[in-house]
Amino acid sequence: MSANTIASPRSGGIKYNRNKGSGSNFEMAAWLFMRLSGVVLVVLIFGHLFVNLMVGEGIHAIDFGFVAGKWASPFWQVWDLAMLWLAMLHGTNGVRTIINDYAERDGTRMTLKTVLYIASAVIIVLGTLVIFTFDPCPAGAVIDLPSFCPAP
Ligand code: HEM
Repeated sequence: MSANTIASPRSGGIKYNRNKGSGSNFEMAAWLFMRLSGVVLVVLIFGHLFVNLMVGEGIHAIDFGFVAGKWASPFWQVWDLAMLWLAMLHGTNGVRTIINDYAERDGTRMTLKTVLYIASAVIIVLGTLVIFTFDPCPAGAVIDLPSFCPAP
């Protein structure tokens, strides 16, 4: 095999004993989740791109006020929340699979997955907080607020 080729997973004659006899259906559920979340993500992501980039003035309309307007609606809050959670869980589970396939040492695998889960949890929590605590007209702001905010 040339130096530029990544070996196929589990092609090195290594004996894998991971999750032996755990009797859990977790991997089956994870496999199914990737397919189902993938289908839902197609709708969420292309709907998001269409509304943000093509409807009306399209990309030229995107600014602070545009985001504020969208998040004033519970519909777009729930849409963006679903997109955030599904993309993060789907992406995290995909990278978990890649780590399991390619990181051969137990310690390396555990370390990489720990970093992955912490990064993922931070992004999910922060993103969720931003969607639900976003205030378009914060009191005492030092920037020019959008025209729809009450005069200070
Ligand atoms: C547009 C909608 C999407 C669809 C239809 C989709 C579909 C899929 C499917 C079916 C798999 C499983 C592949 C396999 O097991 O061999 C997969 C894997 C994966 N997806 Fe997605 N996905 C989408 C969006 C995303 C997004 C937004 C991310 C990143 C946040 C992402 C990251 C990944 C990763 C990292 C894997 C693992 C790749 C691998 O196992 O080699 N996907 N995707």
